[in-house]
Amino acid sequence: MKQWFETLDDDIWFPSDEAGVQEVGFIRRVLRLRRGHQVLDAPCGAGRIAVHLAKAGCCVTGVDRNKRFIDSAGAQFQRERLTGTFAVNDLRQIDFSAAFHGVFSWFASFGYFSDSENADLLQRYARALRRGGRLLIDQPNREHILRNFERVQVEGRVIMRGRWDQKAQRLIVRRVIDGTQDPRNTSSMRLYTPRQMQALYEQAGLVLEDRYGSEEGDRYTRSSPHMISVGRKP
Ligand SMILES: C[S@@+](CC[C@H](N)C(=O)[O-])C[C@H]1O[C@@H](n2cnc3c(N)ncnc32)[C@H](O)[C@@H]1O
Repeated sequence: MKQWFETLDDDIWFPSDEAGVQEVGFIRRVLRLRRGHQVLDAPCGAGRIAVHLAKAGCCVTGVDRNKRFIDSAGAQFQRERLTGTFAVNDLRQIDFSAAFHGVFSWFASFGYFSDSENADLLQRYARALRRGGRLLIDQPNREHILRNFERVQVEGRVIMRGRWDQKAQRLIVRRVIDGTQDPRNTSSMRLYTPRQMQALYEQAGLVLEDRYGSEEGDRYTRSSPHMISVGRKP
């Protein structure tokens, strides 16, 4: 059976490629990426971030479970004569070893699996890093969401009805799209506190170095919209 993210149209998933320019500037800076560096973008979606990284001279590997996205990223790279490798795979099965200078999970893509699978994925990201390499994970900031909880949010064609499951520490969102409620369009995202995320990094052998609150590079505070964690493999 399809999962919730596979039933959504592409235009509901992604901001424009242009928005990626600013996001990539931040990602390159905090991961300290330079020309020729190997980078893992997982999940990469249709490559809207990867394309700008490749233009900046990085060698990108992108992984996503959605074949349509991977095909589209590959086609764009071919058209623009960029170098990159794209593979259809489930994040829970990625298996790289000491291959990358930087690894990142961007645009609220971490936390959708079970708690043990989330922790295991972070270990896989860590294994994929070379020594001295850095991992970035971008999550919505739990504190911000809970303090400003909006039960109903409307974004274009989508009405989202959210609730917080205190016991599981998860944000459950039901989506009504173009007036239709499909039970498959319900997501459950584990939101981590800064301390819990730091523990996940440390269990994976990484040193948490920085925490940012937005893609503009603001310091993380309790009222930041994002919690962007950056850790280094010693
Ligand atoms: C919110 S999008 C973000 C994509 C990209 N990071 C960006 O900034 O545009 C989340 C992506 O996760 C992918 N995805 C969801 N579950 C996955 C899984 N189990 N394994 C691999 N990719 C997955 C979806 O196909 C989608 O492209």
